[in-house]
Amino acid sequence: MKLVFITGNLGKFLEAQKLLREFGITLEQADLEITEPQSETLEEVAEKCAQEALKKIGERFIIEDSGLFVNSLNGFPGVYSSYVYRKIGCEGILKLLTGSADRSAYFMTALAYGEPGKDVKIFTGRVDGTIATEPRGKSGFGYDPLFIPFGSNLTFAEMSTEEKNKFSHRARALRKFASWFLSRHEEK
Ligand code: IMP
Repeated sequence: MKLVFITGNLGKFLEAQKLLREFGITLEQADLEITEPQSETLEEVAEKCAQEALKKIGERFIIEDSGLFVNSLNGFPGVYSSYVYRKIGCEGILKLLTGSADRSAYFMTALAYGEPGKDVKIFTGRVDGTIATEPRGKSGFGYDPLFIPFGSNLTFAEMSTEEKNKFSHRARALRKFASWFLSRHEEK
């Protein structure tokens, strides 16, 4: 079974490709130009991106939006994660947390499935954890060097893709999607 993942982020693609292969789904990457809208929630962003993608692509696809939510910063950077990463990066987040006793945070993904002529469907995934006191590890991308999921002592950037997939927000959303996608297929 073949499916397209619309993303310009190779790291996201490799994680999803590895995970969906376990479900017998072959993923292909499409780097379509999709303008990310300003919205209050990741779900809204994913939904709007999927609606825009449906106008440009004639086959079924997934597209997602993710963010890092730091509890002591009231969920910042959240839906602004991409902008904040470009402006201040991991070091900037660490500075904002200087002196903070509460370093708890979570990652969230809203994954949208689109198919021509059908309603868009959204799947979410969340992983809770803590922000390290300094960046650690070389794997992955984005805020990976900062995030230590509950149940591990390693940051995402110190893990292999397989290990990150055991914990990550993206993997959780993808598993929900894959179960639904396959069960729908079996019904036909
Ligand atoms: P977006 O989903 O591409 O908009 O991601 C928002 C920001 O969060 C970007 O700076 C990403 O690099 C970062 N990000 C998204 N997912 C992850 C992840 O799994 N690990 C680390 N950073 C991530």
